[in-house]
Amino acid sequence: MSDEDELLRIEGIRKTFPGVVALDGVDFDLRRGEVHVLLGENGAGKSTLIKMLSGAYHPDGGRVLVDGEEVRIRGAQDAERLGIATIYQEFNLVPDLTVAENVFLGRQPRRFGMVDRKRMEADAAVLLERVGLDVSPRARVRELGVARLQMVEIAKALSLDACVLIMDEPTAVLTTEEVEKLFAIVRRLREDGVGIVFITHHLEEIAALGDRVTVIRDGQSVGQVPASTPEEELVRLMVGRSIEQQYPRRRPDAGEALLAVEGLTRDGVFHDVSFEVRAGEVVGIAGLVGAGRTEVVRAVFGADPYDKGAVKVSGTPVPRHDVNAAMTAGVGLVPEDRKGQGLVLDASVEENLGLVTLRGATRGGFVDLKGQRANAARVAEQLGVRMAGLGQSVRTLSGGNQQKVVIGKWLLADTKVLILDEPTRGIDVGAKVEIYELINELTAAGAAVLMISSDLPEVLGMSDRVIVMAQGRIAGELPAAEATQDAVMALAVSTPHTTTTGTEATGGR
Ligand SMILES: Nc1ncnc2c1ncn2[C@@H]1O[C@H](COP(=O)(O)OP(=O)(O)OP(=O)(O)O)[C@@H](O)[C@H]1O
Ligand SMILES: [Mg+2]
Repeated sequence: MSDEDELLRIEGIRKTFPGVVALDGVDFDLRRGEVHVLLGENGAGKSTLIKMLSGAYHPDGGRVLVDGEEVRIRGAQDAERLGIATIYQEFNLVPDLTVAENVFLGRQPRRFGMVDRKRMEADAAVLLERVGLDVSPRARVRELGVARLQMVEIAKALSLDACVLIMDEPTAVLTTEEVEKLFAIVRRLREDGVGIVFITHHLEEIAALGDRVTVIRDGQSVGQVPASTPEEELVRLMVGRSIEQQYPRRRPDAGEALLAVEGLTRDGVFHDVSFEVRAGEVVGIAGLVGAGRTEVVRAVFGADPYDKGAVKVSGTPVPRHDVNAAMTAGVGLVPEDRKGQGLVLDASVEENLGLVTLRGATRGGFVDLKGQRANAARVAEQLGVRMAGLGQSVRTLSGGNQQKVVIGKWLLADTKVLILDEPTRGIDVGAKVEIYELINELTAAGAAVLMISSDLPEVLGMSDRVIVMAQGRIAGELPAAEATQDAVMALAVSTPHTTTTGTEATGGR
């Protein structure tokens, strides 16, 4: 490597927040035309590190060099000038503006003092073509799904002519097909000489896409290895120990049916969905994105209405479209969109963990604050939530630690039927196993667990039965012993409401 190939160098970066040393001496470097993966547990400091490069945070110590020269990145404009573009874990687009307006936000081409919409839309169209996005530059961002939002973010980065592109867990919310598309774009950018910083918790993506890996543990860089390093070795570097069993399934004998869903139908969304989940059982729901899985569990939880059918808990019907009734019956839901639905971001960890139990406690007339604190501390410890203390606001937790709080909230609520929608999205490999252990504890205590996951190995590894949905219907059900990846995928791409069976092969994970 010649010096000319080095785009960026970070030396001994430090950053402290009240009560937390987020970065404690991190070294990192990025070359032209490489994908450099940042790997580390939830709360290790990955997002904080890249925020130093985008100008969102300022280091307390250490140096950042761009093209061999020490720089100070005071804000977004400095980063832009230096050719550094960042795609955050949470997107930064303005929902009510169009795609073109978002791409050129603050830099719209002007003509006679007015925004030149024609040119802006034409320029945007070229960029959208480059990232292979088939939407109109005039489409409102609000109407796009996550995969497309991400493509818009990439188009925006391209418009800035960035030589450094930083992506914070871009694949966390994508399907297999979308991931492939993203990889193709990233590879093309790499060929063009762009340096890419890539954060992911999906280890299999590292060998597929990466060139080098820097591992961060507790705010320190603990190693730099080639992307071809075996996964077990990467895990050991990352969590400081090896993980014996990725899917530790232990189950009691199944008991009575705690949850019964009978002929649930919402016109145009899902149709005649029936299944049971017994005490001590984990039932997985697999299917492609858009199969109607999230819609069904939201209806079961009372968050959305349904047109026909019934939901029963321990044989007693639960009123339709009534979250309070569902919660009183002992049903809990860990939603897919944790920031939107699962958390009160400006409240503390303790308050968030107590949200469900508090409801019960105040109804009785008083709040047992001491008990609440002790319980919150126990669950936070069990889940290994990395935080300065129970009083820290959830907004400032790392992405994965926020997810742990959402799950912890329901663990505290003595839930009988726990519904998990993509529970381990954004969770590191070590913490995933902790969550699986908690699922084991819940079932051992006689709870019923219903789990949606697009991570097929996870569904297969943890479920006792797998229900496969396709096009809003149940396409089939497989006991654990018969639930192979191929068998699930065959059902997932089938057309359950007609007699013909589809053989079209599309991906989903
Ligand atoms: N604004 C802030 N105020 C206080 N603490 C913060 C702030 N931002 C980050 N932290 C803390 O810094 C640590 C590192 O967080 P960071 O978001 O960088 O982790 P991460 O490696 O990106 O984790 P994840 O994989 O979960 O996204 C965490 O303990 C987090 O709570
Ligand atoms: Mg992060």
